[in-house]
Amino acid sequence: MLRTQNSHPSEEFKPKQCIPITVAVFKELVGTTTQKVASRIIEELAPFPSGSVIHDNACGHGVVTSSIVDSLPKSISDSSRGEEEKEGDKTTIHATDLSPLMVTSTKSTAEMQSWSNYANLHISEMPMQSLTFPPNTFNFSFTNFGIFCLSDSLALTAAQHVHRTLKPGGKAILTLWSQKTPHHDVLMRTHQKTRNTDTVLPSRQDRWHGETFLVDLLVEAGFDRGKVEVREVDVVVDVEDLKRRCEISWSLVGAPEEGWVREDEERWEEALGLLEEGMRGMDSWQDDDQGGHYVVGVNVFVAKK
Ligand SMILES: C[S@@+](CC[C@H](N)C(=O)[O-])C[C@H]1O[C@@H](n2cnc3c(N)ncnc32)[C@H](O)[C@@H]1O
Repeated sequence: MLRTQNSHPSEEFKPKQCIPITVAVFKELVGTTTQKVASRIIEELAPFPSGSVIHDNACGHGVVTSSIVDSLPKSISDSSRGEEEKEGDKTTIHATDLSPLMVTSTKSTAEMQSWSNYANLHISEMPMQSLTFPPNTFNFSFTNFGIFCLSDSLALTAAQHVHRTLKPGGKAILTLWSQKTPHHDVLMRTHQKTRNTDTVLPSRQDRWHGETFLVDLLVEAGFDRGKVEVREVDVVVDVEDLKRRCEISWSLVGAPEEGWVREDEERWEEALGLLEEGMRGMDSWQDDDQGGHYVVGVNVFVAKK
């Protein structure tokens, strides 16, 4: 079947059922998944050497910063250092994101949770591909589930900025979904079935799911291949309300390359039905008291400068 094209693609038609992706909706979708990954990595790296300067690149609503703050000494008794030394020895965190909404969200969490009592904290709008920090600024640079938002050429520029802004001996930590992302396959099958196509969804960018693409990019950006390590960790994704999860996911990534068209509105319920069925059919899907959960794989890249 031929899909009817928008008569005016510039009008950017959206199905009426499409949920607007606000920060709150995005948080609902991400849930605790990226937080769990960040906490696990930071638990392994902590305690950070005193006076460390850390970048939370593409910070979203601040999950990496939150995990770093959690790892810091919370009272004088937690620290072996005296009061005088403490201010200079405080960890400095720069949390940056392209989206003003994400920056506002991180700022308000920081304020509510008094993060600046524990670290020198700077939260600002800044695109990954044009970081304004001087060279050799950071001991650690985290880009948690961020770099795949960029086109290949911008991703290379972003990786060059990560390399440039790291101190010699500093570590860049980047995370990406690995091949084990069964929900992406379900989204793809729904796209192909409801649109009778063998094209791929723009969000399903396979090259990011293996190790090679990002390792090569980091090497091109200036890191030594021998100093880039990759490992895969599994993370449990909790889903309280599967129908709602499918609605949000389809709204966020269901649009094909050429944009939404009327048929997508007409076939919305069919797509949601396929998504729900597909999610429940995933090998790792388990019903539980809270709804359900499944397991996805995450590649953790650690590159030392
Ligand atoms: C999947 S979220 C991950 C957020 C956070 N790091 C986490 O672990 O939850 C991707 C983030 O990248 C941000 N982003 C997208 N393009 C960006 C760019 N060019 N520069 C900086 N941030 C960007 C988005 O606004 C979003 O907050």
